[in-house]
Amino acid sequence: MNLKNKTIIVTGASDGIGKQIAFRLAKENTNLILIARNKKRLDSVKKQSMKSGALKVKTYICDIRKIDSLEKTAKSIIYEFKKIDVLINNAGIWQKLGPIEKIKKQTINDIISTNLTGLIHTTRLFIPTLKKTKESAIINISSKSGILPQEGQSVYTASKYGVRGFTEVLELDLKNTNIKVAGIYQGGINTDMFKKTGEKFSTDNFANPDDLADVIAYILKLPKKIWISHIKIDR
Ligand SMILES: NC(=O)c1ccc[n+]([C@@H]2O[C@H](COP(=O)([O-])OP(=O)(O)OC[C@H]3O[C@@H](n4cnc5c(N)ncnc54)[C@H](OP(=O)(O)O)[C@@H]3O)[C@@H](O)[C@H]2O)c1
Repeated sequence: MNLKNKTIIVTGASDGIGKQIAFRLAKENTNLILIARNKKRLDSVKKQSMKSGALKVKTYICDIRKIDSLEKTAKSIIYEFKKIDVLINNAGIWQKLGPIEKIKKQTINDIISTNLTGLIHTTRLFIPTLKKTKESAIINISSKSGILPQEGQSVYTASKYGVRGFTEVLELDLKNTNIKVAGIYQGGINTDMFKKTGEKFSTDNFANPDDLADVIAYILKLPKKIWISHIKIDR
């Protein structure tokens, strides 16, 4: 896809991987729709994306755990942009390591409703618009934890296995449409996702989020008849 002037939604664009995806895709002269909860951080990503070459950047404050808010946000986005070319479902949270009986009820609900049901509803809301574009794509950021069980990460792993299952069925369901689907199953990336849970977890050996953003740009820029739907990045 030639990304110039394409309209791309990135969820979880205020920090970490999503922020770097925004910066990378801005360089391709895209229109960016950035979704997250933190206005200040989103505004700063918007500013930098415009400097990096984005044609238009619009930010939407939305907690994807809240379906009503997500529906309202999707409605405003579709009303304003009419055409969407790419949806990148990236927003996600991690969990403090530990056995299931030690994990708080709220943490379990937050992880599933952000990483899995939030992603499913976001996809549901944008598919009708993505179908109207000649060539469009959905990229779901799962994790290595969507393929391999990770000790002490039962809920996070469950959410990411769920994303893989959802993505693989989506690929089948959309195979005769214009929408291509890809799931990304990366290992550790050096972001603050771990620190935000209060867990002391070294990310020194992890890859950088801008390197992963390069991979996303590479997939999206492939010629129309070539597509990579399952991207497993070990390190
Ligand atoms: N870092 C890794 O090693 C790694 C490895 C494999 C997979 N992943 C996956 O990659 C994705 C991005 O992770 P990251 O490392 O970039 O984490 P991060 O730096 O903590 O960024 C997470 C992003 O998601 C947003 N977000 C979280 N909850 C949200 C909600 N309820 N509604 C809307 N936005 C929300 C955050 O923004 P606000 O706080 O402003 O809402 C932030 O922009 C996640 O799905 C994660 O599971 C990460």
